[in-house]
Amino acid sequence: MRAGSKNGRPPTRVLVVGGGGREHAIVRCLLRSPRHPDVIAAPGNAGIARDQVPCADVAADDVEGIVRLARERACDLVIVGPEAPLVAGVVDALADAGISAFGPSAAAARLEGSKAYAKELMQEVGVPTGAYAVFHERGEAVAHLAQASYPVVLKADVLAAGKGVVIAEDEQEAREALDAFFVERRFGPTAVVIEEFLTGRELSLFALCDGERAVPMTPAQDYKRIGDGDEGPNTGGMGSYSPVPGIEPEHVRVLSRLVHQPIVDALRRRGTPYHGVLYAGLMITGSGPRVLEYNCRFGDPETQAVLPRLRSDLLDALERCARPGGLEGARFEWSSSWAVAVVLASRGYPESATKGDQITGIDSIDSLCTEVLHAATAEKGAQLVTAGGRVLCVTGLGETAGEARDRAYEAADRIEFDGKQMRRDIGARAVEAVGA
Ligand code: AMP
Ligand code: GLY
Repeated sequence: MRAGSKNGRPPTRVLVVGGGGREHAIVRCLLRSPRHPDVIAAPGNAGIARDQVPCADVAADDVEGIVRLARERACDLVIVGPEAPLVAGVVDALADAGISAFGPSAAAARLEGSKAYAKELMQEVGVPTGAYAVFHERGEAVAHLAQASYPVVLKADVLAAGKGVVIAEDEQEAREALDAFFVERRFGPTAVVIEEFLTGRELSLFALCDGERAVPMTPAQDYKRIGDGDEGPNTGGMGSYSPVPGIEPEHVRVLSRLVHQPIVDALRRRGTPYHGVLYAGLMITGSGPRVLEYNCRFGDPETQAVLPRLRSDLLDALERCARPGGLEGARFEWSSSWAVAVVLASRGYPESATKGDQITGIDSIDSLCTEVLHAATAEKGAQLVTAGGRVLCVTGLGETAGEARDRAYEAADRIEFDGKQMRRDIGARAVEAVGA
């Protein structure tokens, strides 16, 4: 039975698939909707459950289990957070069951699933991207390395959670990467994309898409390396901020016409229309923007900085994406506040992750100006404990970049667990750029 709402109609029931910080940010944003949807999550996490949102014990990539759950709970909309179920076809399976979903079909999600496919499509429609070549066997790739300029970028053509990208400083390192991909088969059988190394500033730009049009969201900046000053290995993302100094709304519109709309147009022509969020990972180089990659889902932790700034209704926007042409006339409203999101990771991350460490200091931090979003936490008796690599993400909001940053760190410093790792310089670039 569903609880009745004030106008007598049952509230919209939404299933959020996934259990990371991104999904907690999505859930929080849905809970702010004026329509008061009935939100459930699968598998969710301890923070989502603490927000009184029921969490079903179904893994995000269990496609059949997700469809069964959505059917049993009579969900009106399924919002898919991570890429794996999208690439595996969860949206197609939901459509077959007559259930509306936010996210691309498997055919459209190939944009993230295959870097070679994304590159070919970019080349076909004229989206600016680095020069590249695709190799299916080691011999030809080795020959290519002899005449490449260094550094060079090598990418396994599979979903590898960010770990399939190697920036090789010289031919020796590049050969080692080829061995890992072709001989060790570290990511299973895969083709390899070898790509020109680009320099500049990275930028994450999401657009919501309804199969016909792409409507850009506010820009965000991600921090990929584990250490301050961008030192050390790549991670899933150690922090983010939004907006991005120098990227004004008119630049966003121009960028989106350059990198999102041609892809949406091409996929519609191919009969595989793109619905959902199209995330362009950009490098703003001295000779203009270049697309590094497309993702078929929201970025993590960029979402934790972007969604707290959304003033218009997320539920309405995501529902519109599911309908062909549904975004006509849509406008998203953004708060003028700054948001800085700091990730708290466990000892050993990104190579490994410790689990079961007691988390203290977290209660009473959530406020209008600070959101504590859970990524890998668990309840152990009455105690909250760590449960994976990226444990929490603390988002501070403020009138200035400096205020947002200070609020995020003030809260992040109050939270303790054994082995806590966090960068100290998240948002510093924005603070320097705007001088506040
Ligand atoms: P990707 O998964 O393709 O976005 O690559 C992960 C990260 O590797 C990016 O966020 C960049 O920091 C870096 N990267 C990828 N491609 C390039 C490139 N062509 N030039 C320089 N850095 C790159
Ligand atoms: N923050 C990078 C990603 O979500 O892929």
